[in-house]
Amino acid sequence: MVKTLGVGNFSMDRGPILTAPFEWTELEQNDQGYSFPEVAEKLNLYPTFFDRNEAAPDSTDDLIHITINQKEYQVKKDITIMQACEQNGIKIPHLCHESDLTPDANCRLCLVKVKGEQELAPACGTTVKDGIEITTEDDELNHNRKILLELQMASHEHNCLTCHKGNPCIAGSCELQELIREFDIKESRYEQNKEKHPIDNTSPVLSYDPNKCILCGRCVRACREIACQNNLGFINRGADTLVAAGANKDFDQSACVTCLACIFACPTGAMTEKIAHYEGEDWEEKLIFQS
Ligand code: SF4
Ligand code: SF4
Ligand code: FES
Repeated sequence: MVKTLGVGNFSMDRGPILTAPFEWTELEQNDQGYSFPEVAEKLNLYPTFFDRNEAAPDSTDDLIHITINQKEYQVKKDITIMQACEQNGIKIPHLCHESDLTPDANCRLCLVKVKGEQELAPACGTTVKDGIEITTEDDELNHNRKILLELQMASHEHNCLTCHKGNPCIAGSCELQELIREFDIKESRYEQNKEKHPIDNTSPVLSYDPNKCILCGRCVRACREIACQNNLGFINRGADTLVAAGANKDFDQSACVTCLACIFACPTGAMTEKIAHYEGEDWEEKLIFQS
């Protein structure tokens, strides 16, 4: 995920400039702002991001042995099953998980089997232990995931062909659509059950369509943890639950600082950047015309 550092602008000689860094960066406000190299230098991003080879090696005291899908791995202790899998190139379907955000384990798509445990465990919210044996994929897990995705489809608008999240933009494409394709789901066995809500287009930069929201909470956590704004939250209860800005205001009446952290976090077309609207869809370049 792209992490939002604050609000900025663009200058012809210095490129993108960070003019109002968020508090968590601990960068001081200054009139000149910070260029990319200055931000990287001050936040010490070079060892971990720009040159991973220079990152300090883990002490062997911090490493444990685990088994994933019958193969042994050595991983750092105190990480989640999801992190252990991501670090070793093992993909677990997920929607509410985002690696830069606190886990919430609400979508249940990442449930895995842990040997000796009665219940399935959410990979995003379960810490690895030495000797743990994990199964991330089998017929039963995939069947459960298909049902969960079909339930999401039933509570989500099916206008994917015209959805702006299909656009090839920096905020990525719709993760829900990708999973539906991956699991070869053609239709939901459940009836569409979602009440229609008005789209909020009042923000100058973003559009919020509650009809496409799957209540994963990633935008809420991004606004709180990355933007340090706490402008988004859940309102109502049960089937009426919605994400709302400023405790149920229009975006332009809320404390939104238009940083777009929520857009980068959103896995569906619920939060989209207005500038990316009407730019064409991911799949259009693959269309074949024949006479
Ligand atoms: S709601 Fe506004 S302040 Fe919060 S993450 Fe989104 S753009 Fe940033
Ligand atoms: S708006 Fe997007 S990120 Fe926020 S809860 Fe809904 S689907 Fe998740
Ligand atoms: S990704 Fe783990 S429960 Fe949603």
